[in-house]
Amino acid sequence: MLKIAVFVSGKGSNLKSVYNKVSKEKLNICTVVSNKEDCSALSFASEKEIPIFLVSEKEKEGFVDYLFLINEFQKFSIDLILLAGFLKKIPDYFIEAFENKIINIHPALLPKYGGKGMYGLNVHRAVFNANEKISGATVHFVDKIYDNGKIIAQRKIDISHANSPEEIAEQVLNIEHELLPYIIEKFADMKIIITDSKIKILD
Ligand code: GAR
Repeated sequence: MLKIAVFVSGKGSNLKSVYNKVSKEKLNICTVVSNKEDCSALSFASEKEIPIFLVSEKEKEGFVDYLFLINEFQKFSIDLILLAGFLKKIPDYFIEAFENKIINIHPALLPKYGGKGMYGLNVHRAVFNANEKISGATVHFVDKIYDNGKIIAQRKIDISHANSPEEIAEQVLNIEHELLPYIIEKFADMKIIITDSKIKILD
């Protein structure tokens, strides 16, 4: 059983797709963490009775800090931390505490269209303005630099008929909902092999 913590900031459609598509026998979503008090992702977590934490680097009533989360995650032996639309930079000491255990889904084909400020619709606007014909989604490990960690998997999609960034967003989100549960299931089956130079996904 893979024990994961999911970090969210918004709609939570990726959280939902993982919750709905990965077998309950293989996956335990132990907690959902957010920097936003009011977001649909948190409502979904409450509905499903998943324990919630609000996190902030600054002291704030009702919020925990990242050191608290490090302790909790170690105490409960969390195997994997999934950033599913979490739009805040995670502090370096947290990333160091969980090397090769934090993954992110990004709505473009990294290394293009990544980096600071490249999130949500900003990404799709940049892709649209560059007149790209293909876009996609990337799942990658998180290191201390934005969208820079080792790539685990990508899915491509033809966006040549999209008439707006919003249309690209919708198309890409659909493939995120396929790619992310697939990768989480591979982690649960221990079919993701990490070596120094590359990542292999076994059948
Ligand atoms: C998703 O498209 C995800 O790839 C993106 O935010 C959206 C969250 O949607 N993440 C980033 O842009 C991170 N750089 P959701 O809340 O419905 O899962």
